[in-house]
Amino acid sequence: MIDYHSHVLPAMDDGAKDVPMALAMLEQAGRQGVDTVVATPHFYAAEDTTESFFARRQNRYEQLLPALNAQYPQLLLGAEVLVWEGMSKVDWRPFCMQGTNLLLVEFPFSTMPYWLVEELENIILVQGLTVVLAHLERYIPWYTKQNMAQLLDLPDVVVQLDCDSLTSGFRLHSIAKWLKAPDRMVLGTDMHNADTRAPQMEKAVRTLSRSRIGRLWLDSVERTTKILPEL
Ligand SMILES: [Fe+2]
Repeated sequence: MIDYHSHVLPAMDDGAKDVPMALAMLEQAGRQGVDTVVATPHFYAAEDTTESFFARRQNRYEQLLPALNAQYPQLLLGAEVLVWEGMSKVDWRPFCMQGTNLLLVEFPFSTMPYWLVEELENIILVQGLTVVLAHLERYIPWYTKQNMAQLLDLPDVVVQLDCDSLTSGFRLHSIAKWLKAPDRMVLGTDMHNADTRAPQMEKAVRTLSRSRIGRLWLDSVERTTKILPEL
């Protein structure tokens, strides 16, 4: 399994506090069958510059690197970019998951901004990127079914669901009412630490495998992972 969303870099954002915590998180993910973890620290354009973000990310990665060995999942670099009006004018290629054209984007927890679909469409069509919609299920309280349909109709999107949201059949079925069966779907642990927000990949996969819709989603995850540029 690939974990497409994590906050595992030490002292980078609101994720792992230090190297030992980062290693504990990676170790847990590895035990749950994750063989690749994409580190996707938050990028908030309003509070950060591209230069300082990449310098910090590289520095944190280098702190962790000496401790990594074959017993841990492979670690790749990426970012989780909070959307903003006008963002499609920025070149987002450097923020994509290492070696891919996959850009993980998150939205504010509010009703869908009127400019959102257009900004994403521009990033996809003009920059040729595949947009990964971070934890789409977390917007269900704010987004209408029509909003969700508009996002899913974009030409090159992948839905990312958080494993945390898939730890019970009840939660899975309430999400399924809104998302039905997206063509392209991946999972992310969105792990922030080693206890209260630890990786839940194993539990999510177990829940998914117990229901018909869940098994459809797992098939979609498997298919999507094959279509996407190799990580
Ligand atoms: Fe996140």
